[in-house]
Order: sequence, then C-alpha cells, then structure tokens
Amino acid sequence: MKPLKHLPAWKALEQHFKSMRSFDMRAAFREDASRFDQLSLRCGNLLLDYSKNRVTTETIQHLMQLARESELEAMRNAMFTGERINFTEQRAVLHTALRAPVRPPLVVEGVDVEHEISKVLKRMQRFVESVHNGNWRGHTGKPIRNVVNIGIGGSDLGPAMACHALDHYAVESVRVYFVSNLDPAHLAGTLAQLDPETTLFIVASKTFTTLETLANANSAKAWLLAALRAPGAVAQHFVALSTNAQAVEAFGIDPENMFIFWDWVGGRYSLWSAIGLSIALQIGWGNFQALLAGAHAMDTHFREAPLEANMPVILGMLGIWYANFWGTDTYGIFPYDQRLRLLVPFLQQLDMESNGKNVNRANKRVNYNTGPIVWGAPGTNGQHAFFELVHQGTRLIPTDFLMAAVNPTPLADQHEWLLANCMAQTEALLKGKSRAVIEAELIAQGMSREEARALAPHKVFPGNRPSNTLLYQKLDPHTLGMLIALYEHKVFVQGMIWQINSFDQWGVELGKQLAPPIRAALSSVRVIGEHDGSTLGLIADIRRRRGLST
Ligand code: F6P
Repeated sequence: MKPLKHLPAWKALEQHFKSMRSFDMRAAFREDASRFDQLSLRCGNLLLDYSKNRVTTETIQHLMQLARESELEAMRNAMFTGERINFTEQRAVLHTALRAPVRPPLVVEGVDVEHEISKVLKRMQRFVESVHNGNWRGHTGKPIRNVVNIGIGGSDLGPAMACHALDHYAVESVRVYFVSNLDPAHLAGTLAQLDPETTLFIVASKTFTTLETLANANSAKAWLLAALRAPGAVAQHFVALSTNAQAVEAFGIDPENMFIFWDWVGGRYSLWSAIGLSIALQIGWGNFQALLAGAHAMDTHFREAPLEANMPVILGMLGIWYANFWGTDTYGIFPYDQRLRLLVPFLQQLDMESNGKNVNRANKRVNYNTGPIVWGAPGTNGQHAFFELVHQGTRLIPTDFLMAAVNPTPLADQHEWLLANCMAQTEALLKGKSRAVIEAELIAQGMSREEARALAPHKVFPGNRPSNTLLYQKLDPHTLGMLIALYEHKVFVQGMIWQINSFDQWGVELGKQLAPPIRAALSSVRVIGEHDGSTLGLIADIRRRRGLST
C-alpha cells in the first residue's frame, strides 16, 4: 500500500488546491449557469446539491482519481463480499447483508449468513406481531403497552434516532422508551412513568458486558420483581439482543427470549440487526422492512453507480477535500427536520468512533488529519444558538443541511417557513454581505457616515462558505433507511482514503479500565492504586465531602 501522500492524485490535489485558494463560489455561479446541474445528483427521492462548495468539476475529477488510486472500489467489494476488512479484530463487516432482500449465499466464519439472518428476522417478526396483537402478555396476563430499550452507544443511538424520526409511524398499542445512561436518573425517571405489569424490557448489548447496560438491566429487573413478586416474571418481561448467549443466560434471560446477531455487525451499524427490535415494535414490521429496503437501495447505488455519480463517494470525498486540503477540523450537520433531532448524536458515533483513528493499515501513525469533529443540531434552533460562528467566525466549517419537501403535519405554513429558513442559511453562507452594502444600508437608515463606517465591519458576512443540501420528499421509513446508509458509506469512503480501520474502537477501552480502581478509591478505607495528581485531588475532595480520610 502506497502512503496516501505519495499517491499521484494526492500530489495533483495539492497543486490544484493552490489554484483554488482564492476560488469564489459566487463568481462561479455567475459565470456558469449550469453549476447546479453539474454539481448535484439524485438517488431515488434524494437530491444532493453540492454546488455550494469550493470545488470545480476539475476538483471532483481529482478527488475521484484519489478514490481510484486508493482502491476504493476494491475495498467496497471486499466489504460487501464479507472479507475481513476489520483487520485489527479479524472480522468481516456485513451490516449491508442484513438489509438485502435477496442475499447471495455467503458463509462467514462458518456461519451461513443468509440462513441465519432470515431465521432471526422471522423470529423478530413473530415476536413483534405477538406484542402488537396482544398475544404476548405480561406475567399478570395484561398486554404489553410500554417497551424500554436498555442499551448504550450503537445499542441505543441508532434505534432511538430511528424511533424519534419515525414517531409519526408509531403503532398505537405500544410506546417505546430508551434508557442508556449510567446516571440512575435516566432509568428512575423512565420507570416512574411505567406500570410493571405492562412493561417489556429489551436488554440490547452486542457484548452483554457493558457496565451501563448491565447496571440498568439489573436495576430494571429488581424494580419489576419488587412489584410483581414472582421470579418467573422475568421471562415475560425481558428479552435480550446480543451476540453473547452465555452472558444473556447468566443474567437470567431465557435463551428462548434472545435474538442474536453476529460479530460481523459493528455496534454502530447494528440497527439493521436484532438491535432494531425496538424500531420494529414502534413502527410495525412492514415499516421496519421499508427502512431496511431504503438502506438496501442506497447500498445498491453505492455498489453500482460510477464514482462521479455516487452520492456517498461524493459526500465522502468532499469531506477529504476540506479536512486534508483546506484544513477544516469540524463538520456541521443541520437537519431542518425536528424528527431528526437525534441524527447528530447518531452520526457522531458513526463518524467519530469509525474514523477517529491515527494509525493506518500499515500499522503506522498517519501524517494527515482523519475523522472530523461532528456536531450540529436541528434547524431552526441552531440559527438562534451557534450559527453566528458558522457565518462570522474565523473557522471554515463544511456543513450538511437536510430538509423534507413535504411535511406530514397539517401545519403547512410553518413547514414553508422551515424550508425557506434552511435555504436562506445556505444562501447567506454562500453570498455573504459586503461592507459597502452594509454601510449604504446604515446610511439609508439615517446613520452618519462615521457611525456607519464603524459599525459595518461587525455586520459583514464574509460569504463563500460551503454547504451541502440533502433534499428528500418526506421522512418515511424508506427515506430514513437511505439517509442512514448514505452516511454509513460516506464514513466508509473516508476511512478507506485515510487507510485506517473504520470498524474497530480501541480508543474507548482505556477509560473503561481506569474506572474500577477509581470507583474503589472513592469509598475504600484508604486510596489505593496509582493516580495522577489531579485525579487524586478530585478523589480526596469527594472523600472529604463524605467524611472519609484522605
Ligand atoms: O464503548 C463503546 C462501545 O463498545 C460501542 O462501540 C458500542 O456501540 C457500545 O459500546 C455498546 O456496546 P454493547 O452493545 O456491547 O453494549
């Protein structure tokens, strides 16, 4: 593998960047009436407008050449065909197989993937239908009305995001809640609203060893048993989603009530697996199938469309352009769609846990920036909070704006304003507002020339700031599936260019190892273990507050 910076396309991009430093998008739009047509593309009902970027068609050609020289197409095929591209854990990466309606025969690590997936999907369907039609009952014979998904990270963020996004498809008979945080306030606050007789807990954990999830699951079990006073009640009120059958059994959940998945499904890519059970319970089996079908449609596009017309490739390579040539550190995501309010936390895990790496496939430290800091919030809320910095701050921030052409609520006028605001922001980022125009406006409003000259610089919008816009028809299960898969593949593209492993997450381990001795030090007779001065100081302060010796 040639180091990234030695690839001819990288060098060509460095040269090209020099000529682009003073590129002005406003002039480019003035000079080329076809810019939007050339720099936008469609996939199903999704439109990606990437014309408001500091790129020309030549930039795109260079970026695609970089993708080719990075063997992106071969890596993509390796993922879809089950090669062990997660090379530090020796695992295949096959979340795409979970959403394929017709799966080619595939045996991975001795497992007949097609057969196993179909088997679990059928069990999930039967279970979801039995909860919905009231056949599955709680220990006292009442039907299930509330479902609590206990999980964290990938076992929480994807399902929670999808359930919020598709709230308008929710079945009437059950309500789904999510508990993730170790902070007992999260579980206690949720349980306070629920009736144990009609509540089902889903313990979702790939490993079934995660501290937060096991702590919450144990507390939930204690709450249930205290109320129902029957140890046998666990069987009707707890199901598990995991790869670890032994640990599930040890926890006290009958393997009959366990839905398995496999270690070739990464946590942050697991909502398509049994981890999606809460989604199916919320929106019904048919809609869950539509979500999978949407993701599959994007998989097909990603596999088959030429690189130049490939949405995840274009989005991914634009991110490379900004992060590695323009030196941007962050990446803002602004869904003008309140139902997508959990999209940003979901994408933070997807992107930052996947590409927050500094060692490449040759086991060497990389000498370029990898994954960006992902942040954002739904519009229009963001406009009244942090958009000041996006428009007038000193940093360049690439952004994605998302909006639905149609809104399911009857409040059409408000939705019209929402769309207008979304486009107004990207237009303002692009066009900016010059000092001369502002001065003239202030003088016309009655200000003296000196006063106008002093105030105007503060009101200048530099403009020429980039944005992508993703427009979809409406937020339905199929479209949401497409959107999620789009971002999954975008993250894949970038990881392959940066030559890193997007599918492990060793960076989460150290804190987990350090927590137990710190916990012990908080209440033990004397502080044991080696800690730095700051940590010792904090432990001592907590101990003092508890009247313990320090
Ligand atoms: O600590 C990070 C992590 O391992 C994530 O990668 C994962 O999604 C999350 O914890 C939850 O893990 P599990 O599903 O095994 O409980």
